[in-house]
Amino acid sequence: MPRSSYYILALLLSSIATFLWFSSGVRTATTTPILTLTYGSGSGSCTCPLNDADLEPNTTPSSPVSNPSPLLPPQGITIATPEPIPLHSQPEPPQSQRYYLPYTPTHHLTGLPFPSKLWQKVGPNGIDQDRQKDIHSWTTTNPSLRHELLTDGSADQYVRDQFAKFPDIIHVYTDLAVPILKADFLRQLILYADGGVWSDLDVTCHQPIDSWIPAKYKDKANLVVGLEFDGNQFASWTVMAKPRANHIAAAIDYIIDTLEYEAGLANTTISGLTMKTISDVVLVTGPQAMTRAILQSISVELGEKVDGGNVSNLQEPVLLHDVLVLPNAAFAAMQGGWPKDQGPYLVEHHYAGSWKNDQGGESGGGSSGAQDQEEKEKEKEKEKAESDDGAVKTEVREDGDS
Ligand SMILES: *[C@@H]1O[C@H](CO)[C@@H](O)[C@H](O)[C@H]1NC(C)=O
Ligand SMILES: *[C@@H]1O[C@H](CO)[C@@H](O)[C@H](O)[C@H]1NC(C)=O
Repeated sequence: MPRSSYYILALLLSSIATFLWFSSGVRTATTTPILTLTYGSGSGSCTCPLNDADLEPNTTPSSPVSNPSPLLPPQGITIATPEPIPLHSQPEPPQSQRYYLPYTPTHHLTGLPFPSKLWQKVGPNGIDQDRQKDIHSWTTTNPSLRHELLTDGSADQYVRDQFAKFPDIIHVYTDLAVPILKADFLRQLILYADGGVWSDLDVTCHQPIDSWIPAKYKDKANLVVGLEFDGNQFASWTVMAKPRANHIAAAIDYIIDTLEYEAGLANTTISGLTMKTISDVVLVTGPQAMTRAILQSISVELGEKVDGGNVSNLQEPVLLHDVLVLPNAAFAAMQGGWPKDQGPYLVEHHYAGSWKNDQGGESGGGSSGAQDQEEKEKEKEKEKAESDDGAVKTEVREDGDS
């Protein structure tokens, strides 16, 4: 498709997005971020101001970010976080050694900047005030950051366009019925195709992205991950990559192989996988799958075994080949017990999602409308009960929240 068609299509989609945005009533929040609906490559994206106020140049942070107040552990709030899965406690699903994407020599990426883009996806329940605040934290902390917000529909289209030459990948993505599996896979696809920062919606940005990579690694890192569990697992709620990074290609290969393996075990196809038939989201498409794939990929590139031991007890970022691994404090200070000796807290994950419902998503996989409706009713009742006692905040369920 010629560039101009992309542009027109992007404009069209943007208008639809703007319309949906207005009609879905999510504009009640105090801070309205600029909504960018992404379609295709950089030349096909457009930033769409939503109202006059948004036409103001987005260059002045509303709060000083050069010296933000240090983050403190929240008082009196206990957030249930997942238990760590030791890196090799679960059997490794067999890998097919198939490569779904071409190999890009690392030196092709060296010297290229990380795209200044934030990628996020909104689920069917939209964006509430807390998530608006989280989005705003990214745009105020990083004034020149482009924000790319995908919907379920535009994400499908994005994958079809970006991976037009790789029909296997499109099929796997569009076949997946469980929203969390799709959301997990989507971030890898976006990081590979476009790069930049992926972040789940329930993540606050506390420090400018420009400051994440220490000066000595600036020219060397092509992928940046933060530890969720020291020595065991990288967080997948926030990941920064240059496009075409081999380690992300490896994560995509790993996820497809694992999905096929799980489908085989359940005597079904990828489209038949459900939350009940898969072993564990974290291992199949989630952060543990990503961690294993990246460590294996680094090992291949380096020609030596790199493992959990190489990402244990990190006090400062470590560069493994071209992958910068940030200590627990960076992306997962809470999970690391609010360490004081590991450098700044860069982002904060709120675990707003409760995607671990039977259907693995905000409103389930769409397989049972009646069930969805029933679930929504229950949720409403719960919200009502909670707002009556006035103490507990409404829980938002985001998919893509592993
Ligand atoms: C798998 O499903 C097919 C078709 O329903 C059936 O014939 C076969 O016996 C099943 N195999 C196993 C191992 O469950
Ligand atoms: C990984 O850890 C092993 C064992 O401590 C060490 O020998 C090796 O040099 C490390 N690899 C890298 C790339 O740091």
